[in-house]
Amino acid sequence: MATHYDWGSLYAALTECRACPLAQGRTHAVIGTGNPHGKIMLVGEGPGRDEDATGVPFVGRAGQLLDKMLAAIDLDREQVYIANVVKCRPPNNRTPLPEEAEACLPYLRAQFALVRPAIILCLGATAAQYLCSPDIRISRDRGQWIEKKGVWILPTYHPAALLRNADWKRDAWEDMKKLRAKAQELGLYT
Ligand code: URA
Repeated sequence: MATHYDWGSLYAALTECRACPLAQGRTHAVIGTGNPHGKIMLVGEGPGRDEDATGVPFVGRAGQLLDKMLAAIDLDREQVYIANVVKCRPPNNRTPLPEEAEACLPYLRAQFALVRPAIILCLGATAAQYLCSPDIRISRDRGQWIEKKGVWILPTYHPAALLRNADWKRDAWEDMKKLRAKAQELGLYT
């Protein structure tokens, strides 16, 4: 049966979590940041070195680009909630293994239940595969809205991918505009 968490029990559970081997290498479980009532939630893959050191998602180079992407549509971290599929850093920043993601997904589901976002932006393939569909491909499926249980989900590039391939920034910008348009349509901009 699914565990029902409040924020306190979620933080306590994650601080103690040993559900998968990633726990052994962590400095911090990187839980989430931003507005816990944000109507827009961003989901990345997993912490990198800077996030493991600080306990805060998206604070490294990819995070700085993410801040710029948000600013381009008049948003900042205080308005959205940001989390990852896995809360502990995979070694050498590799993609989380399916069993690691499965072990951690109950925490992300708990975050969805607590935040209750109207829109979820999936940053990269890992988030999109676990939140939308296992066979999703970012290059093919990015920028297309998927509605699940009344929540609008948009897959887009991971900002780390944009740092590696600047040609994708144009498409990422289109996706950010789609995010802004949907948020306006739902009355989420004040
Ligand atoms: N990449 C992610 O997917 N998440 C982070 O928190 C940082 C980098």
